Amino acid sequence: MRVTFKLIVSLVLVVASVATFSAYYQVQQERQRQQEDLQRRSRLLAQSLEETVTPLLAKGPSKGLQRLVEKFGNRERLAAVAVYDAKGTLLAITASLSSALPTAPEVVTESLALGVDVGQFDVLNGANLHIFSLPLRQDKATVGSLVLFHDASYIHLHLARMWRHAFMRVLAQTVLITLVTLLIVRWTILAPMTQTAEWMKKLRLGETDGPFILPKEDLFAPIAREVTTLAKNLVAAKTAAEEEAKLRQAAESLWTPDRLKEHVKARLQGKPLFVVSNREPYMHVRKGRGSEVIVPAGGLVTALDPVLRASGGTWIAHGAGDGDWDVVDEKDRIRVPPDDPLYTLRRVFLSKEEEDGYYYGFSNEGLWPLCHIAHTRPIFRKEDWTHYQKANLRFGKVVLDELEGVEEPCVLIQDYHFALLPRLIKDERPDARIAIFWHVPWPNPEAFGICPWQKELLYGMLGADLIGFHTQFHCNNFLDTVDRVLESRINWERFAVTKAGHDTLVKPFPISVAFPHAFQDADPAAAPKTDRAGLLKDLGVKAEFIGVGVERMDYTKGVLERLRGVERFLEKYPAYRGRFTFVQLGAPSRTHIKRYHDFLAEVQSEVERINWKFKSKDWRPVVYLEKHHSHREIMPFYKEADVCMVTSLHDGMNLVAKEFVAAREDESGVLILSRFAGASRELRDALIINPYDIEQMADALRLALEMEPDERAGRMKRMRETIKENNIYRWAANLLTELSSIRLESKPAGRIA
Ligand code: G6P
Repeated sequence: MRVTFKLIVSLVLVVASVATFSAYYQVQQERQRQQEDLQRRSRLLAQSLEETVTPLLAKGPSKGLQRLVEKFGNRERLAAVAVYDAKGTLLAITASLSSALPTAPEVVTESLALGVDVGQFDVLNGANLHIFSLPLRQDKATVGSLVLFHDASYIHLHLARMWRHAFMRVLAQTVLITLVTLLIVRWTILAPMTQTAEWMKKLRLGETDGPFILPKEDLFAPIAREVTTLAKNLVAAKTAAEEEAKLRQAAESLWTPDRLKEHVKARLQGKPLFVVSNREPYMHVRKGRGSEVIVPAGGLVTALDPVLRASGGTWIAHGAGDGDWDVVDEKDRIRVPPDDPLYTLRRVFLSKEEEDGYYYGFSNEGLWPLCHIAHTRPIFRKEDWTHYQKANLRFGKVVLDELEGVEEPCVLIQDYHFALLPRLIKDERPDARIAIFWHVPWPNPEAFGICPWQKELLYGMLGADLIGFHTQFHCNNFLDTVDRVLESRINWERFAVTKAGHDTLVKPFPISVAFPHAFQDADPAAAPKTDRAGLLKDLGVKAEFIGVGVERMDYTKGVLERLRGVERFLEKYPAYRGRFTFVQLGAPSRTHIKRYHDFLAEVQSEVERINWKFKSKDWRPVVYLEKHHSHREIMPFYKEADVCMVTSLHDGMNLVAKEFVAAREDESGVLILSRFAGASRELRDALIINPYDIEQMADALRLALEMEPDERAGRMKRMRETIKENNIYRWAANLLTELSSIRLESKPAGRIA
């Protein structure tokens, strides 16, 4: 505004000065022209009277002369006429002026002296007059002078009028120019500038709803170019900054392998991490002259391999593959994963007898059915218990060997195979921080109480600084059991047990899968591009809908109940016959145990029975693929299935449910999930069922297949968010954070009784 004001004032001053100057010049010229004109007319008139007046001079003042001046003195604008003799003495003058001229005017003296006519403007009696004196000659001698007095006031009036007009013109011009300038400034400068400023403001505030068309005026063309470039850069910078902020934000809430790696480094202060489990993550199986590597089925391996890949360290496990011992070094170590080594696998050898007693016997015929309420009786044999103790001792020695030279190491023991290991290690290495994670449920004290060696098991476990379960419910069951069985102090506020002067924290850590790539060796991009048609063709069936179940074949998984659920579904909703096929992928497991052996046979016969009941020419209700499937092979089934069934009778967590969700990048597919699986606490958007309720399972299948796409997508999206947020890296980070924060006691714990 101040600029506009200055511009206008300057313009007004300049315009007014120029106009005034030009008016002054014009007036001056006009004045001169008018005066010359009057002079010229005076001369002409005087000359025309010369002849008449000259002869009368000789008589001196006379009536004739007086009459003559009176006669001409009355003419328009001629105010008076006077005649002087050669000496400048007045001979006659028009009466109206006689009193105003006591002496001869200057022009008369001058023209008589010079002998030329002289004109001059003067004020007499307040009147503007032009006085013109013409010397009168007779015989070449100047005999007098004829003087004409013209009223010159009209010239002043005329010039004053000219000034007035000039002033009005200046005024009009100034107003006009100011107005025009204002409009030009507004249209061509202010408006585009305001528009640009407005757009830039919106750009700054991120409110631009499209590209800005900058003003096209020449004046702005260079600025427009610069501003456009600037704006583009700004938008790019802003987008990059937002993207970065988003990533930062996501990275803060999202646990990734890299984040875990850094976290572990910081928490463990650069020391390696030690993991102990019975099952190894990579198993070498002899094939022809060489061997092939398989990743054993089961949640433990699925969950922990990504952790070790991220953190590095040593995984100590039973070398169960027949090709395992061909590939290890002299310390029984091998770097894994074989095609991209990231951590060390230390294999522990067990004789067949030891394996039978410790693994098949006590662990899987005793503790496994003890912890899973699946109506299979646990079997406790004295010899198995002895082997279990020995195997724990053997693993303990190997672990102590690995811990050699590492101060205050962190040891993560896995599962029910090693209940005695925490105490064994703690006794020898009180400086070790030890956690045991129980991957299976913990039953109530009554159920656990049937184990003849429950005291020893609990005492062994309480050698750990931290005991983890999947759910709070299992933690409570464990503390109840300790309360019932051992003399100890339980702090229910901290969920801690003090036994023999040693504190053990008991906390839930719900395990998970790697997200987004649930399988390290089968990320979606690398997964075989099998589509539904290809999949069905390979299976030899024609179907519109596919259901899938993926299992390590275990009686706790509710596979028989699931098959009955499928059967009931086809009975109840016959429209799906010929259209729905359920594919069961089953990896045989622990087959040396009779119960598992029988279970496989039972499943096979159920599949046959149901297929016989419903099958048609090119359709079967159930396809059972009994073999170990690699993650790469499983992935297409997860991706193509309309519904995945997880119907465990009792399960610590169940990672198949989470793998299925993690695999569904298309945000489709429905999960039917047993309420007895730990995963049902987190995956609330699954269709939660009771696997013992066959009718409910049949109805859940129908609901899954008929669910509106929007609802299906919404449920899957929410479940994916849950797993993304609570992935295996977060699980490991939480567990290790808790473990590394534990304050070590100064004196060693007591010895096993
Ligand atoms: C469950 C157990 C794991 C075990 C896995 C596979 O998930 O909690 O400890 O490794 O089953 O069973 P397997 O007997 O083959 O190791």
